[in-house]
Parts: sequence; structure tokens; C-alpha cells
Amino acid sequence: MTSMPRDFARPTLRIFKTAEMASTAVADLLEQRMVAKPDITIGLATGATPRLVYTKMVERAGAPSWRSVRCFNLDEYVGLDASHPASFAYYMNDLLFDHVDVDPRRTHIPDGTALDLEAAAKAYEALISETGGIDLQLLGIGRNGHIGFNEPGSEHDSRTRQVELTPSTIAANAPDFPEGEEPPATALTMGIGTILDAREIVLLATGPAKAEALYAALEGPVDLDCPASALRKHSAVTVFCDEAAAARLKRDNLSFTGDGYAAA
Ligand code: F6R
Repeated sequence: MTSMPRDFARPTLRIFKTAEMASTAVADLLEQRMVAKPDITIGLATGATPRLVYTKMVERAGAPSWRSVRCFNLDEYVGLDASHPASFAYYMNDLLFDHVDVDPRRTHIPDGTALDLEAAAKAYEALISETGGIDLQLLGIGRNGHIGFNEPGSEHDSRTRQVELTPSTIAANAPDFPEGEEPPATALTMGIGTILDAREIVLLATGPAKAEALYAALEGPVDLDCPASALRKHSAVTVFCDEAAAARLKRDNLSFTGDGYAAA
């Protein structure tokens, strides 16, 4: 196997002492981008990691306004609709959409209840491009390096589609489900290619459980084994993380700024 070509981009890395500081910095960046472009299209992630970002955006609700913002979520479980407490639609309503002035007609989540999932996936892709594409995509990272629900092995040019979740992802997400209820085995997710089409990407990683995945994504080979390594094919990625998630990263070109380390 050949090693990765040297011309892959190095994402901008910002390491903060705590998850709270990293989340505040992401909220600040979102706010800046929303002020600069009130009709911005934002790609949103769910999961434990961005919760604090959404809390901070709700605290700032009204300034900036979400009225003209369009949102596309990364993924949704197959078979769950917005009434299911573990669905990503429920999560988004509960943590963000119900508390800001967003227009519900401008919030989009893959339809995991569609009878024809392939058609729903194609329609999602079409809607993203017809509405001008994603300006800023927010991502978390799975312990196995997944982004969206693009598990290891996903092609870097993959598009929105139905995917099978790995046993480790199902186990990681099981606590979100009512006791005794098995999480779905499949989901609809934007593809890695869909994610890489965003004009700017922000990845937030916090906690020691993400240290290995972040190391593989930023310093391992760019390959299908670590889906997040594909982000090095994009020229405008910023990784926000806390010390715990950054534990294995080199800090050669970083300098301490007060809040944490950033590119010199
Ligand atoms: C969520 C998503 C996933 C999560 C990842 C990390 O929409 O697409 O890629 O970002 O599984 O999840 P947490 O933050 O719960 O560790």
C-alpha cells in the first residue's frame, strides 16, 4: 500500500482546555457566519457532542436570527419519525428548532420513514443542490472515525443513501433509546462526498473516547478505514477539540493562545 500523498490538506486545529470552551468557540463561529450571511445553509449534526453548541445558540436566540437560515441534518435512523425520542428529528426540535426563530420549512432531515428510501435519499441530495449547497457543515466523529453515519469502508465520494450501522455504533447509541428497545440497524446518511461538497466544515470532538479516532483522522493514512480522514481532501476544515480528544495529536505548529492551542 502506498502512503498518502503529501499534498493532503492539514485541517486547522484548535485545541481547548475543556469541551465547554471548544463548544463556545464553535457557537461563536456559527454566529459569525450567520451574521455574515443571514440566509446561510448549515449542515447539522446530532449526538452528545454538539448538545452544548445548540444550548449556546439557544441562549443567543434572536441574535443572530435563524429566520432565513436553511438547515440540512446529516442523518436519521430508518423507521423513526420526529415523535420518537431517539430520532434525530426529535433531538433537533428539542434542543434547537423549538427554541429559535427558524422557519420549519427550511429545516431538513433525511426521511427515515420513507417507503422508498432510495428515492428519499436522491430527493435529499437534489434539495441540497437546488437550494445552493451547504455553506457550513458541522460534524462530530464516531469512535470508529465515522462522520455522519458513514461507517469505515464508506467511499469518499459516497452520496446520501441507506447504510448499515456497525455493532459498535449501535452499542454507542443504545443509551438514547428507551430501555428494552433495540436501535435500528440502518440509517439514511449524507455521504462523505455530500459532506465534502460543503464550502466549509467544522468538526467538534470532545472527550477521551475520541482521541484515537481524531488521531487516525488527522495523522493516520487518508483511507476508507477512517471515514473522517477524507476531511483532509477538503481545504476549509477546522477541527475544534478539547485536551482529552487531542491527547494523541502532534502539536508542532501550534502555539498557546490563552484558551488553548491554535495554529501559529
Ligand atoms: C450525528 C452523526 C454522528 C455523530 C457521531 C458522534 O448526526 O452523524 O456522526 O456525530 O456518532 O456521536 P457523539 O457525539 O454522540 O459521540
